[in-house]
Amino acid sequence: MSRRAVVLIGPMGSGKTSIGRKAAKALEAPFFDTDIAVARVHGPIREIFAAQGEQRFRQFEREAVQEALSTDGIVAVGGGAVLHPDTRADLARHPVVLLTVDPRTVAGRIRGTTRPLLQGGDALASWQRVAEEREQLYADLADITIDTSIGHIRDIADRVAAWVAEQWTDDPAAQKGIE
Ligand code: S3P
Repeated sequence: MSRRAVVLIGPMGSGKTSIGRKAAKALEAPFFDTDIAVARVHGPIREIFAAQGEQRFRQFEREAVQEALSTDGIVAVGGGAVLHPDTRADLARHPVVLLTVDPRTVAGRIRGTTRPLLQGGDALASWQRVAEEREQLYADLADITIDTSIGHIRDIADRVAAWVAEQWTDDPAAQKGIE
């Protein structure tokens, strides 16, 4: 029985990349990050937004998500990947971890960020608006929600890894979406 990629979703600055990478390392599993994949093929994300616009970025992101979901590792997707209806449909067939973070904590994490959606004004206010807009989408897709505001990243990654390991056991009952 082949295991399914486990996907980390959540708002910008919730720790998807750093926690996903650590959890994958702990499990000796592949790690795939859609932002990194898009940038590798198409160049820096801020330049894609500036030169080609957000919609074009979303297309590139969708392609990266499709590639990522065919792996058997841990996948971190960009915070806005869930905006794509096909991605939402795909994620319903994968174990999904929602990482959350409170505004007070994320303020430090997004200081000096180059993320296009947080430019040109109060980055924290923009973050809050975007996070609230997507809150329901995240909640609907999540199989487990883990807050990353408190605690050491190492411990949070260990919690994620433990949950992922459970999804990857050979017990069919533990494997979402597998008949
Ligand atoms: C975005 C999140 C970013 C990146 C891009 C757009 C978003 O990824 O994909 O800047 O729409 O929330 P992170 O969630 O990894 O910051």
